[in-house]
Amino acid sequence: MVDTSVALGPVQLTSPLIAASGTVGSVVDFAGVGSLDAYGAAVAKSVSPDPWPGRPPPRLAPAGAGMLNGIGIQNPGIEAWAGDIGPRLGSVGLPVWGSAVGTSPEDFAVVAAGQEQAGVAAIEVNLSCPNLESGEMFALDPDSAAAVVSAVRSATTLPVGAKLSPNASSIVGVAAAVADAGADWAVLTNTVLGLAVDVETRRPALSGGVGGYSGVPIKPIAMRCVWEVTRALPGLPVVGCGGVTNGTDVVEYLLAGASAVALGTVHFAEPRAGRRIRRELERWCRRHHVTAVAELTGGARPW
Ligand SMILES: Cc1cc2nc3c(=O)[nH]c(=O)nc-3n(C[C@H](O)[C@H](O)[C@H](O)COP(=O)(O)O)c2cc1C
Repeated sequence: MVDTSVALGPVQLTSPLIAASGTVGSVVDFAGVGSLDAYGAAVAKSVSPDPWPGRPPPRLAPAGAGMLNGIGIQNPGIEAWAGDIGPRLGSVGLPVWGSAVGTSPEDFAVVAAGQEQAGVAAIEVNLSCPNLESGEMFALDPDSAAAVVSAVRSATTLPVGAKLSPNASSIVGVAAAVADAGADWAVLTNTVLGLAVDVETRRPALSGGVGGYSGVPIKPIAMRCVWEVTRALPGLPVVGCGGVTNGTDVVEYLLAGASAVALGTVHFAEPRAGRRIRRELERWCRRHHVTAVAELTGGARPW
């Protein structure tokens, strides 16, 4: 038997796998089609204080071996979300984390408080959205990112994870700032900014033009972020996220320094991927005489 439990700062997870925000709906609805028993936690789609309508179609486009999305974080707002999803969180059978977005630190705080009241087990702060004041993504600037985490930290007693962007010029600088502001862990990473053009219509493939690139091709980019942050800030636990499709991808992230690993785009082609990937991870561990997954974290050998 392989011990699959891991610690993520103050949080204990029975599995190192986490279902990534925006790829499993509200989690509650995903329970019917996915294999939630494979995960240690699942993150609901991001929610803002007021309803956000999202962008018009097309909002998803295949691009190379990955996928572009420009959903625009469509969501019903925290009040409707809490009324609809809150009462059903208990039926999911695993910890569900909320995900907060907004255009000011106060927005994030309002959502975090509402999600705590609704019964989530932790809050993920999605910093890949524009700060109304500067027009720039919170995740690109250490001070803006820290201001959001501080506001959320004051609004909730739950554990708080900060989800960062690989588009930041210094991922270590932003990670250090959110750690100082009270984040219990960092999620590395959200999508990579990208663009595709439809050569028949000569329009961008997404209605919003630039979107978020995800899936297999972004794995080395997110891995680099995990590597740099865990080496620079050994006290900050990290969730690796980007392009995971199999058990050895998970092993790679853990060896690079991650304590847990999130699965995203893989769910669109294979909603039950979590079960297969967990089986593959356990098989790898048995084959390599690893009795506890947690032993792998940061285990990459130096040259
Ligand atoms: C369609 C789609 C919607 C997403 N929505 C959210 C979201 O609401 N909040 C968030 O923090 N991340 C969101 N993400 C980002 C994923 O959680 C994940 O960080 C990213 O896709 C990289 O992982 P992957 O390559 O395994 O998909 C979304 C990704 C996709 C593909």
